[in-house]
Amino acid sequence: MITTSGLTKVYRSRGREVTALDGVDLHVREGEVYGVIGQSGAGKSSLIRCVNLLERPTAGTVTVAGQDLTALAGRGPRAGRELRQARSRIGMVFQHFNLLSSRTVQDNVELPLEILGTSGKERSRRALELLDLVGLADKAKAYPAQLSGGQKQRVGIARALAGDPKVLLSDEATSALDPETTRSILQLLRDLNRQLGLTVLLITHEMDVVKSICDSAALMEKGRIVESGTVSELLATPGSELAAALFPVSGDASGDDRTVVDVTFHGDAATQPVISQLARTYNIDISILGAAMDTVGGKQVGRMRIELPGRYEENVVPIGFLREKGLQIDVLGQEPALVKAGAK
Ligand SMILES: Nc1ncnc2c1ncn2[C@@H]1O[C@H](COP(=O)(O)OP(=O)(O)O)[C@@H](O)[C@H]1O
Ligand SMILES: [Mg+2]
Repeated sequence: MITTSGLTKVYRSRGREVTALDGVDLHVREGEVYGVIGQSGAGKSSLIRCVNLLERPTAGTVTVAGQDLTALAGRGPRAGRELRQARSRIGMVFQHFNLLSSRTVQDNVELPLEILGTSGKERSRRALELLDLVGLADKAKAYPAQLSGGQKQRVGIARALAGDPKVLLSDEATSALDPETTRSILQLLRDLNRQLGLTVLLITHEMDVVKSICDSAALMEKGRIVESGTVSELLATPGSELAAALFPVSGDASGDDRTVVDVTFHGDAATQPVISQLARTYNIDISILGAAMDTVGGKQVGRMRIELPGRYEENVVPIGFLREKGLQIDVLGQEPALVKAGAK
């Protein structure tokens, strides 16, 4: 649904050059919620602004729903109308809502439809329908100043949906909101994604946001995507920073008389049965030191740190059992590198 290829953005101001995007290849599938995470200055906003051509990329291409927007933008003023139309099919939600304070809630939602030349009656019908969809049917005549932050963002979302987009872009839509309101806005985005088949590309600096609603995620650093994939793919990638941040496990791994193992579940094996099977089969006591599990697409994914009694050498067989179940196993501390390589 969204593909960028070699996307590059260099800002030039007062003789200085800043490379905000450095050859970004992004692939967002139709119907998924895709999270881009990264620290401030990583290039997240530049990426999203280049995806809908609010910002002209310096190089590279952006394709949305099969249409090459960069080619449209490059064809001069006459392509302007086509580009505007293409962009109206891409909804955008902002951190600070960007509502017009002099307009009612309904008139804010109607704004994109006015620009598209939709008739007054149709605009009104559509705006009320959208306000109903985001749970604000009773606020149509209110002004933005009379709304809470969460309500303002709901208006922002309704407005973003006015052009009947296939794609919704969200730049830190929940950063200005408290945790409870954040949850309700994320839930709304998830519901819209499911109900309308809307593809959502969201930018955040919060892992929790990614964890609660994203199917896939990418980590950005210094204008580049350094890791990306579905949540299960990330978990299946040894050493994935994103997976470690999404599913942090802790628990002391030191000591001679015990073997501490991180078990990663990608959704293929059920957690509980595997651990109890292990305990029963080898008649050993297993302690769970820490776990970070979640349900993604009805499957359990995440990590668990467990402790087996005895040194690594005494646990080669039980560890082999776990690996045979298709689980990714990382032995902390004492596993000899050779054995580890051989077992994988
Ligand atoms: N309009 C601009 N002019 C000059 N530099 C900019 C502009 N917008 C962003 N930058 C710079 O580009 C880099 C990436 O910024 P941005 O895309 O906003 O990152 P993020 O959203 O991840 O915080 C930063 O170094 C920022 O200072
Ligand atoms: Mg930003």
